[in-house]
Amino acid sequence: MKKCFTTSANTLTVLFAMGILMNSAWSSRGQTPVTLKEAYKNDFLIGVAINQKQFSDEDPRGIPIIKAQFNTITPENVLKWESVHPEPDRFAFDAPDRYVEFGEKNGMYLIGHTLVWHSQTPRWVFQDADGKPLDRDALLNRMSNHIHTVVGRYKGRIKGWDVVNEALNDNGSLRQSPWLKIIGEDYIEKAFQFAHEADPDAALHYNDYSLEIEAKRNGVIALIKKLQAKGIHITAIGSQDHVRLASPTAEQVDATITDLGKLGIKVMITELDVDVNAETQLLSTADVSAAAQNSGGYTNRLPDSVQQALTKRYAELFGVFLKHRDVISRVTFWGVTDGDSWLNGRRGRVNYPLLFDREGQPKPAFATVMQAASVEK
Ligand code: GLA
Repeated sequence: MKKCFTTSANTLTVLFAMGILMNSAWSSRGQTPVTLKEAYKNDFLIGVAINQKQFSDEDPRGIPIIKAQFNTITPENVLKWESVHPEPDRFAFDAPDRYVEFGEKNGMYLIGHTLVWHSQTPRWVFQDADGKPLDRDALLNRMSNHIHTVVGRYKGRIKGWDVVNEALNDNGSLRQSPWLKIIGEDYIEKAFQFAHEADPDAALHYNDYSLEIEAKRNGVIALIKKLQAKGIHITAIGSQDHVRLASPTAEQVDATITDLGKLGIKVMITELDVDVNAETQLLSTADVSAAAQNSGGYTNRLPDSVQQALTKRYAELFGVFLKHRDVISRVTFWGVTDGDSWLNGRRGRVNYPLLFDREGQPKPAFATVMQAASVEK
């Protein structure tokens, strides 16, 4: 069925440039969606990871975009262990409370990110009071306490949790994290069990990156099947999709979602962004390579040729996501504007990975994502 979305990409860009759509009444005009969440309302939730300034009402540029465009949010950092549980007997709930209030006030589907991860987790988590490694039972107790306290606090409010993040190596084997070394392989199912006990109605996700690598994908599929065979409550698999301009290919993204979809649980694209610096050598134009050779990357502006490559990339990605709209329940961008992205500073470069530029204006990639939603399905 064709949707009633007819506004062309160019028209949208011009309208935005004129600031016409950037007011508080930024919403649909009649039957024509002008926001991402409206354009995709019959397909999947459209989300964004937000930072403290944004959910604390201190980012006048980002907040109107978040409110207008997205119907689900993820906290970029404040629910990671090091932030929410910085010391053994201290939880820091001020910021997460504000995150939840912001989401509820704006009628958004709230994601919790993330409970068990090897990164951004303090070292004390794995040690006793004397700095010696914890044994299995003590670490399981600590994990249980953390999950029950954090998930329990937001029971019924945070609707979906990234329970375990990045447990696999690229070859599909389990990462040798302190969780695995101390507890053993069943740390994953225990984490899901504790989360389910803490909020039986919450959706629970396993989240990881580079699932387009076949060996890793096979590893994750085997892991999920094992959890399912044991009756563990797991409702979705999160594919982070921190991608580059040329890799993984659209075919690989497509094949990945097809394979994951066969597990009988939802697939979520949880951390989407496109690193424009990683593969500049693949683009041939002189201005691109000249700019990219500089250590700062595209310091002042993104060359047109890369802007176009980015736009094309987003078009093909959303083409794939839409093809799988029966199994995909959410697509979340990892940041609001280019200036917010974690990719800035990587390899010492300025990056441009998202749909909104540093001024909060929609880029051509925004128009192409809007346009993708109007295509005959
Ligand atoms: C991982 C994590 C996210 C975020 C990103 C980028 O993918 O899941 O929380 O930290 O890396 O930094």
